[in-house]
Amino acid sequence: MRLRDCHNFHDFRKLARRRLPGPIFDYIDGAADDEVTHRRNTASFERCDLVPNVLRGVENIDMSVTVLGQKLAMPIYCSPTALQRLFHHTGERAVAAAAAKYGTMFGVSSLGTVSLEELRKAHDTPQVYQFYYHRDRSLNRTMMQRAKEAGVQVMMLTVDSITGGNRERDKRTGFSIPFRLTLAGMYQFGIKPAWGINYLTHERFKLPQLDQHVDMGSGALSISKYFTEMLDPSMNWDDVAEMVRLWNGQFCLKGVMSVADARRAVEIGCTGIVLSNHGGRQLDGSRAPFDQLAEIVDAVGDRIDVIMDGGIQRGTHVLKALSLGAKAVGVGRYYLYPLAAAGQAGVERALDLMRSELERGMKLMGCTAINQLSRENLRFR
Ligand code: FNR
Repeated sequence: MRLRDCHNFHDFRKLARRRLPGPIFDYIDGAADDEVTHRRNTASFERCDLVPNVLRGVENIDMSVTVLGQKLAMPIYCSPTALQRLFHHTGERAVAAAAAKYGTMFGVSSLGTVSLEELRKAHDTPQVYQFYYHRDRSLNRTMMQRAKEAGVQVMMLTVDSITGGNRERDKRTGFSIPFRLTLAGMYQFGIKPAWGINYLTHERFKLPQLDQHVDMGSGALSISKYFTEMLDPSMNWDDVAEMVRLWNGQFCLKGVMSVADARRAVEIGCTGIVLSNHGGRQLDGSRAPFDQLAEIVDAVGDRIDVIMDGGIQRGTHVLKALSLGAKAVGVGRYYLYPLAAAGQAGVERALDLMRSELERGMKLMGCTAINQLSRENLRFR
């Protein structure tokens, strides 16, 4: 199977599975506990039907949107995800280049493997910097300052990861940073030598956003320790309000699920929220963002930008989310599998397929612009 044989999410996933050592594939593919929420995220779209209009003259489709102050050519952005150079040696460089080519945003994770500054210099595309809240308040301020100097347009604080999710697949394989593989995990690496050669022949794997704070090589601090020792479980709304004031620009909270929290985000001056359960990787049993979307949009949609992510695999999923009132959607695994399968060419193919699916969907729905999508054309089962 080659990239040109990939026509959808499932094909990319299959190809990624062939290329990646099992523990790395499972790190991407897996979720928390019984992975119920992860499955529900996608299943939630199937409870909702589209009711198209016809004969509306749909030759020219404009799918551009303005979200978080950024004009995007399409309403789909690449959600921040960690450790991308583990999936393909080009990592964030490939994703940023592909996002720039398709005129959309890329969320650079603070657990990313290419520096924010390098990515900003390479692509003058709207870039989002995703970060976590540290016990060391001066570190939080330094990170924001660094982002400001790099020319980041949007700060995104992830608030659903105050402790790590229970990812049992990672426990079974021994996946951790630095690697501490079980025997079974080592065997899985052994049978994918092409990945190993590629990994070893490229520059050393680092976490440049955290540089001196997490040492990958000597294992001074593992990622799990980073979460337990460095992140601040006492983080509260006052702390975040201070960050919002300090940043004084587009500020988005990622991982908001309740109406009460969405209202609070508005009160403290956030300009956007990402309705997300972290792709089912944190609290298993939490509701699918798509199921929760209408309530959130009704409560705050006229005051801040509501973005949603989780389970999006098709242009029609995007159509449904936008019709309910989301300003844009984020995708995670949808671009990570093609990244693993084929680097930048893979991510470009994925974005291209999603863009054409959305364009086709809009035509078949009888809409020429995103603001013509509405709840009138949705029915829930
Ligand atoms: C993530 N996600 C994530 N979110 C975040 O705020 N910071 C991060 O570093 C990461 N890292 C990460 C790694 C991997 C491998 C995955 C799959 C996800 C969550 C991500 O931004 C997004 O919320 C979900 O991926 C959306 O769900 P789908 O599209 O993967 O179903």
